[in-house]
Amino acid sequence: MSAPLKAMSVNPQSKKCVVLGVTGGIAAYKACEILRLLQKQGIDVFVVMTKNACQFVTPLTFETLSGHPVAVDTFARPATWEVEHIALAKRADLFLIAPATANIIGKMACGIADDMLSTTVMATRAPVMIAPAMNTGMWENPATQQNIATLVSRGVHVVTPATGHLACGDSGAGKLEDVAVIAQRALDVLRAKRDMEGLRVMVTAGPTREALDPVRYISNRSSGKMGYAIARAAQRRGAQVTLLTGPVSIEPPQGVQIVPFMTTQELLDRALACAQEQDVIIQSAAPADYRAREIAPQKIKKQGGEDMTIELVENPDVAATLGRAKRGDQTFVGFAAETNDVLAHARGKLIKKNLDMIVANDVTTPGAGFDVNTNIVTLITRDGSEALPLLSKDEVAVRILDAVLALRA
Ligand code: PMT
Repeated sequence: MSAPLKAMSVNPQSKKCVVLGVTGGIAAYKACEILRLLQKQGIDVFVVMTKNACQFVTPLTFETLSGHPVAVDTFARPATWEVEHIALAKRADLFLIAPATANIIGKMACGIADDMLSTTVMATRAPVMIAPAMNTGMWENPATQQNIATLVSRGVHVVTPATGHLACGDSGAGKLEDVAVIAQRALDVLRAKRDMEGLRVMVTAGPTREALDPVRYISNRSSGKMGYAIARAAQRRGAQVTLLTGPVSIEPPQGVQIVPFMTTQELLDRALACAQEQDVIIQSAAPADYRAREIAPQKIKKQGGEDMTIELVENPDVAATLGRAKRGDQTFVGFAAETNDVLAHARGKLIKKNLDMIVANDVTTPGAGFDVNTNIVTLITRDGSEALPLLSKDEVAVRILDAVLALRA
């Protein structure tokens, strides 16, 4: 049975609007229930249908339920002089497509806008969520999976389809997720959460650079995307955020205090300087574990065919150092970048560094880890673990912060 939806308090002045896109699949009738669930939470719902969707459910049904005209035809003469698909695109606080067929997913991934729904979703600046539903073979087709990955990397929220008995007679993945789950995910996006107000959050992000000589250094592939997404999400939720950042080439989030570092020792120094005043510390940086014993004062020359040995010494472990001084009212989160025995290694680091939670990612999996817009992580606490599917780093950030607040509750 579906969990009851968490109520959303609605001020009529700020009534939220969902534009609900319905595409042509047997699950189209379930969009009526999604519409009703959202309306019960005080949401105004406008419906856009594809022509194929009208084969399954009539526009009249959605017009009656929503109390608004249903948009299907781009060239229908409008009742007002607004350009209809642009007006709807602007009105949306959330653009939800449920069910989303392989066809609309493919169009969105490729930037095709050839009907009312595809033009409207392309024009919107609102968050977009899709709830795919299709035959298992179509869902598992590499083209669909690649299109989904493209949309996720652009920040589209995907409600992964459930597994079960499908209308076509097959059994497998591709069934529209429970309508209550879809409505809840939509409400979660619509809620402008300010549930971190009053909290001070320190986030570390990016790589370190350990110099070998004036022009060369040891580093890694961290882009800072994961940590920046966490800092941005925490700031949006009202936290006072300090972002300790290694050398990266992405835009810093607005409204956060930026503290740059270059080496692991510098990261440790900066972190120690502000750790005590933090409520939450999240360490997604990838500090180098070793540095050169000596930094050559001049550019190292070739050795005339001889091998060269660089002696490395171990760097301090920032997370473990902070962990030793952790107060009971602080919540510490680390990351574990692993290539094998991911969960076992991550659990070991959780204990060794005195963390409350560790976010494990297998950095060898496509779509996860370094320098991509998505990640696949498992959130591990001392009491259990939760494996998350492929999500954008922005969504992973939201889930990490939800878990942090749950730990502090
Ligand atoms: O930056 P992106 O391109 O978005 O990539 C994201 C990421 C792969 C860097 C991120 O998801 C991630 O996994 N970050 C942790 C990288 C890492 O150093 O993992 P680790 O398993 O070696 O370290 C475990 C924890 O100890 C981490 O929280 C790390 O910040 C910390 N650490 C590690 C070494 C060290 N000397 N001091 C530390 O504090």
